[in-house]
Amino acid sequence: MIKWQDKFSVGYEIFDNQHKELIKIINSLEELIKDKDIHEDLLYDKINGIFSELLDYTVYHFTTEEEIFEEKGYELTEEHKNIHNEFVESVKEEVARFELGKNERVVALEIYNNLIDWLMNHILGTDKKYMNKLD
Ligand SMILES: [Fe+2]
Repeated sequence: MIKWQDKFSVGYEIFDNQHKELIKIINSLEELIKDKDIHEDLLYDKINGIFSELLDYTVYHFTTEEEIFEEKGYELTEEHKNIHNEFVESVKEEVARFELGKNERVVALEIYNNLIDWLMNHILGTDKKYMNKLD
């Protein structure tokens, strides 16, 4: 479970709020994995639901960022867009590893850890670069 911290802020409320939402979605994944009472079939369906919510929201968030980059003529727009595209592809690849009857909880936990790593690296590395540059 990751908790939002002020140091995650990229200086724009709209993006901070969207990042908080992404964290919320990823955290809900961990909650499900930890629920030992839930049957594998239901767990599988629910986790898949979270994955599609995550992918949809990620694409929506990246689109919001990219539109503002273009509007503001942000110098690293192309570089940042490429990183977004790679990110989406990586999430899709991870999600494709998740199969019913194949260690759902173990695989989901690995995916969860990777998602957190990527998101934190993205926010603290790539996104921080646009701080004070989109005004
Ligand atoms: Fe970004």
